[in-house]
Amino acid sequence: MSSSNPLRDPADRRLPRIAGPSGLVIFGVTGDLSRKKLMPAVYDLANRGLLPPGFSLVGFARRDWEHEDFAEVVHDAVKEHARTPFREEVWQQLIQGMRFVQGTFDDDESFERLRDTIEELDKAQGTGGNFAFYLSVPPSAFPVVIQQLKKHRLADQSNGSWRRAVIEKPFGHDLKSAEDLNTTVEEVFAPDQVFRIDHYLGKETVQNILALRFANTMFEPIWNRSFVDHVQITMAEDIGIGGRAGYYDGIGAARDVIQNHLLQLMALTAMEEPASFDADALAAEKTKVLGAVKLPKDLGRDTVRGQYAEGWQGGEKAVGYLQEEGIDPNSKTDTYAAIKVEIDNRRWAGVPFYLRTGKRLGRRVTEIAVVFQRAPHSPFDTTATEELGSNAIVIRVQPDEGVTVRFGSKVPGTSMEIRDVSMDFAYGESFTESSPEAYERLILDVLLGDSNLFPRTEEVELSWKILDPIEEYWDKHGRPAQYPSGTWGPVEADEMLAREGRSWRRP
Ligand code: BG6
Repeated sequence: MSSSNPLRDPADRRLPRIAGPSGLVIFGVTGDLSRKKLMPAVYDLANRGLLPPGFSLVGFARRDWEHEDFAEVVHDAVKEHARTPFREEVWQQLIQGMRFVQGTFDDDESFERLRDTIEELDKAQGTGGNFAFYLSVPPSAFPVVIQQLKKHRLADQSNGSWRRAVIEKPFGHDLKSAEDLNTTVEEVFAPDQVFRIDHYLGKETVQNILALRFANTMFEPIWNRSFVDHVQITMAEDIGIGGRAGYYDGIGAARDVIQNHLLQLMALTAMEEPASFDADALAAEKTKVLGAVKLPKDLGRDTVRGQYAEGWQGGEKAVGYLQEEGIDPNSKTDTYAAIKVEIDNRRWAGVPFYLRTGKRLGRRVTEIAVVFQRAPHSPFDTTATEELGSNAIVIRVQPDEGVTVRFGSKVPGTSMEIRDVSMDFAYGESFTESSPEAYERLILDVLLGDSNLFPRTEEVELSWKILDPIEEYWDKHGRPAQYPSGTWGPVEADEMLAREGRSWRRP
């Protein structure tokens, strides 16, 4: 059904959201992200019938490729990484709109060729001048690409067409560089033309935080300081840095994922109910939470950073971070980070939010655990409740997507022994539809101009304001603590919680 159909109510979100005439230009098309995520996502969208028939995909890179070579690379990427089955007829249609522009970022002629290509596609594929430019490039290349888009009038939206810029993280490496980047981008693109990708927001389970909280009545009354003891947000990975030494060293875990993914998860968990699910209303509530974050007074006590040492992972020997190829053997880069923050508002005052992330940890898991206070009084013997933990609601972001509610239950038998049990909702069991990949959802949203799931300038800057003092402290004090690969991080992180009578979950 097209968006011009008079019977279609645009507010009805049950109808498939299908992009209108448009195309996507990817800068950095030879990179890993493009091959593993972007190209497959475009194919999956086409396969699900969510792209217009003339949809066009333009790759821009230095390689000496013809259109056919580019199409072959996309083909292999799709075969290897797409979520949905390969269908020849979908591929044949998609290939009609595939073009490659050989060029470098500082070369005017390359951008003229890009403009010609877009004009040619408008005629051949009916793309209507509507193009999104995806900057899957190192941050140092952002300014030149943005300026070239301006200089060659590629950012102009004339005759009702649209032009959008999609920016991949990192959005700077501190507040100052993020502000500079935002200025550069906003000199050329209006705020509603800019889409900053935080792919965690494209994950189904992350959007489900909002459904869980605001479409139900039973969670929200206890979602506050009167009942919640603390919140733990964990993003653990079992992989090391792989081939990303160039990007990762000097950046570290906190900048890589706390500044964006984890603070966004925290904002969604802690924010007030937005007036609607529209982009402005959501951004307003997330911004309030990020603006209310209070850092601990003693950063030495309430933050921990670590670095993986050699160890065992999945039955195989893993090298330490300092032995990874391309890493400075004296590097102080954190591959593990844990921080405590509070949110200074009426709902959350005094409730710690513990955020932790790390590479080469015990297993890959991302979850948000809202842990409740203990019962103020227990009529049972303490010996009967020895094995009882705290009640908790755990949003399992990945890999076993779902929600767990943990509570105490009587152990069958003659005594009144009480132990923790859990009640589970699993996506795989409750729904027959499989979840789209985050990038599918986000690319479709860009083409539709729907910016709900994209962090705004203020959110990015506020997140750096939270992280900058921590990074500065770490910079001045010592080195990251070592932890063996395959464990749950440095002992200092356990001590950080133990001092407050709490402990990290072992998911
Ligand atoms: C990226 C980080 O943003 O997220 C990577 O730069 C990390 O370091 C990745 O591995 C994890 O994403 P996901 O979707 O696999 O959890």
